[in-house]
Amino acid sequence: MKKVLIISSTRNSNLDLSKDIKNYLMDKDELETEVIALEDFELPLYTPTLEEQFKSTESFPKNISKIKDLICSSDVMIWCSPEYNGGISPIVTNTIAWISRATDDWKEGFKDKHCLICTSSGGNGKNFIKGFEMQLKYLGSNVFDRSLIKTKAKNIEEFEFTSVLTDFYKNIFSE
Ligand SMILES: Cc1cc2nc3c(=O)[nH]c(=O)nc-3n(C[C@H](O)[C@H](O)[C@H](O)COP(=O)(O)O)c2cc1C
Repeated sequence: MKKVLIISSTRNSNLDLSKDIKNYLMDKDELETEVIALEDFELPLYTPTLEEQFKSTESFPKNISKIKDLICSSDVMIWCSPEYNGGISPIVTNTIAWISRATDDWKEGFKDKHCLICTSSGGNGKNFIKGFEMQLKYLGSNVFDRSLIKTKAKNIEEFEFTSVLTDFYKNIFSE
């Protein structure tokens, strides 16, 4: 059984996309899926000073441990996030910063994991996808070479949705 964590940055259209993905994958064998929205964790903004303060007072917020455990215990991650200003949204960057600092090995949450990048953005989200692919690969993830892209003007075609997820599913079990 593989544990698939579907991570939405927001509680809005990217969460809707995450739920659609979960509904599709629910029927697949050997998968256990869970959707989370990063907004719900209300993580503080990462700064070295704040980290030092948490460490010296042994007061790491519970939600940092919670998201770290969810990510570290997953086998597969599907990220659904908007593009912001031609790049990765701050909530994703912030979450990754905390996880990399809350684990013994900074790559622990990401190394050798199958990842799919999806976006519901104003435009085509390509800058986010390119930039985030680079980051996830740097963290050791195995990033699938196709993505699901929803724009303000265009929904994802049903054929495309099914084809990307079916291929990704096969890819998860290919090794
Ligand atoms: C600060 C900010 C910057 C944005 N920059 C971009 C951008 O560079 N490219 C783009 O396609 N959309 C951009 N958008 C639009 C969002 O991608 C779009 O509203 C998206 O649907 C929001 O996702 P959500 O519905 O899950 O909240 C931006 C939105 C905000 C709030």
